[in-house]
Amino acid sequence: EWNMADVLEEQIRNVKSLVGPDEHVICGLSGGVDSTVAAVLVHKAIGDRLHCLFVDNGLLRFQERERVMLNFQKELHLPVICIDASEQFLARLKGVEDPEVKRKIIGEEFIHVFEEFAPKVEEEVGRSPSFLLQGTLYPDVIESCPPPGSGRTHSHTIKSHHNVGGLPERMNLKLIEPLKLLFKDEVRKLGKFLNVPESFLKRHPFPGPGLAVRIPGDVTKGNALNILREVDEIFIQAIKDAGLYDLIWQAFAVFLPVGTVGVQGDQRTYGYPVVLRAITSEDGMTADWYHFDRNFLVDVVSKICNQVRGVNRVCVDITSKPPATVEWE
Ligand code: XMP
Repeated sequence: EWNMADVLEEQIRNVKSLVGPDEHVICGLSGGVDSTVAAVLVHKAIGDRLHCLFVDNGLLRFQERERVMLNFQKELHLPVICIDASEQFLARLKGVEDPEVKRKIIGEEFIHVFEEFAPKVEEEVGRSPSFLLQGTLYPDVIESCPPPGSGRTHSHTIKSHHNVGGLPERMNLKLIEPLKLLFKDEVRKLGKFLNVPESFLKRHPFPGPGLAVRIPGDVTKGNALNILREVDEIFIQAIKDAGLYDLIWQAFAVFLPVGTVGVQGDQRTYGYPVVLRAITSEDGMTADWYHFDRNFLVDVVSKICNQVRGVNRVCVDITSKPPATVEWE
């Protein structure tokens, strides 16, 4: 196990030697563990030559933008610019069904947002940013074997999750990835060492493509995004209320775009099913489903069907990874 004081010292030294004294860095913050810890680390090394933005891509959870911005303000003393790009993301996703095409479009739109941000930084500080900071972790970078000399012996084959693939090349930005050799639990330890508040460190992972990978098919169809936001919020709140949040690696809901018949009162309903998924994991590369007790599930299912218009059926995903992945797309 690595000593976080050493990791921190080494990474700060790295960043300082990489980024020249007049150079600037931009960073997309999501409000999650990885990007927050990466930003706090780099801020320690280069101060206000780090420029952070938070992008609302229209695929965020219930009140996520407001909550995350408030959390940045209250808990972190890092200035963060908020950019609402939801319309441009959703316009491009309209009618798109294929999961890989969806991911690609979202990656490209992130590029556009960064492209528009760089000149704003230049206007402000008189120099175009030269680096992009990313909170890439070790599981994102390994393919079939660990990089030589990394000191790692893990050898899983995984799919990689680059939200913004191709970005630095197209924008002439060099990448800084100070967490690239760490697993999530180590990033949490490093964050703790850096005094990053628990509200960031304990947050469940949330994928860059957001709710788009939790609505199979066209995410802009009907009211799917809003229904999913409401269901997800009820599920997560129930998990927090039951004191289970910290025992679970990740929990979320999935919207299924198929019709299902139900009955409420004396009325036939024709609505949508949703799926609840909660998993435990060490590193996200393999996972087990989390075994809720019966009463928890009974309560949460009844809350969802009573409170969320359009939902008349709730399923629970009890597939481990493998054979399933964590996300549905
Ligand atoms: P899968 O679905 O591959 O997910 O089993 C493993 C972990 O990675 C997260 N995930 C992503 N994270 N960009 C991200 O930043 C992505 O494109 C992406 N896809 C999946 C997922 O939520 C889980 O924690």
